[in-house]
Amino acid sequence: MVRRPGPSVRLKLTLSYASFLMVAGILLLATVWVFLLRYVPERTRTGPGLPGPFSPTRSDLLDAFAPRAFQALGILLAVGLVGGWLLAERMLAPLTRITEATRAAAAGSLSHRIRLEGRNDEFRELADAFDAMLARLEAHVAEQRRFAANASHELRTPLAITQTLLDVARQDPDRDHAELVGRLHDVNARAIGLTEALLLLSRADQRSFTPERVDLSLCAEDAAETLLPLAEKRGVTIVTSGEPSPTRGSVTLLQQLTTNLLHNAIVHNLPDGGTAWITTTARPDGVVLAVENTGELLAAPFVATLTEPFQRGAGRTRTHDAGVGLGLAIVDSITRAHDGTLTLTTRPSGGLRVTVRLPLA
Ligand SMILES: Nc1ncnc2c1ncn2[C@@H]1O[C@H](COP(=O)(O)OP(=O)(O)O)[C@@H](O)[C@H]1O
Ligand SMILES: [Mg+2]
Repeated sequence: MVRRPGPSVRLKLTLSYASFLMVAGILLLATVWVFLLRYVPERTRTGPGLPGPFSPTRSDLLDAFAPRAFQALGILLAVGLVGGWLLAERMLAPLTRITEATRAAAAGSLSHRIRLEGRNDEFRELADAFDAMLARLEAHVAEQRRFAANASHELRTPLAITQTLLDVARQDPDRDHAELVGRLHDVNARAIGLTEALLLLSRADQRSFTPERVDLSLCAEDAAETLLPLAEKRGVTIVTSGEPSPTRGSVTLLQQLTTNLLHNAIVHNLPDGGTAWITTTARPDGVVLAVENTGELLAAPFVATLTEPFQRGAGRTRTHDAGVGLGLAIVDSITRAHDGTLTLTTRPSGGLRVTVRLPLA
């Protein structure tokens, strides 16, 4: 935006200081003048028997007072201008630093901090708020970069595998093509799954849905029904319990959230004979969906990172049914889009408990 040049705040402050000082000086001199007048008669009274030899008149007083008064005012003006100019510089110094930091941030340097020292005042508050904003922005940008790098890497993997399979097939044309087609199909299905998960994540982040009344307990039942074959295949028992838990949001997204959580509870469970509990409760302050499962013992610091995109557990749990590591990131994003909170806690006997709290409809 182009603005017309105007007087600087420093100049304006200086002029205000000086004018204030002048007004105060004039008032003071006026008071002195009025006070003096009480001791001086209006006209000279001369004559025999009257006091002499020297008795001043008002015009004598004015002659003596006026030049001094103007001198004083002149000094006050000079002091006001110089003092104001210096004081204003001191007052405005923090503002210069804040402006420099803003310019640096606008030019793309998000690592710069103002770090204004000294006790708390309005400028320090502004600087601290600005620093906090920069820190958040910087973290956010770093997160986005990490995400883009991870997503590209994940998307490249199926393409690279496909390429290898095709190369091998070309070098050995007599090989069984049915096997090749089968493997290509699997790799492709995984790539589609990944792309769909990425699309879902961005849709949830954008909050582009019309909220409607959704009963979480119905979502839980749906998820349990859909995932029953998988649970049976893996020897996991699903225990569903719940009361009607109405909230507002997107049915599709909330169903996705429930399915992701239950899917995790099944595939990251004990190798055999595990249990997954899915419960919904309605409280006066909101509805709660809890998904809990038996499984390996998990460390709390590891659990804290699980909602980051592409974060997956290493080791034994990497099986065919495990996803690409976007499941919990999607759950987190959907929860935030519904003004809810997501909590992950380890179970002392192994496994995980995931709680999603959403506003009551
Ligand atoms: N219910 C759970 N029980 C134990 N571990 C879990 C559970 N849910 C998620 N995890 C761990 O968190 C990681 C990330 O989960 P998620 O984002 O859904 O990715 P994915 O399931 O694709 O690996 C999983 O790889 C797993 O190690
Ligand atoms: Mg998952």
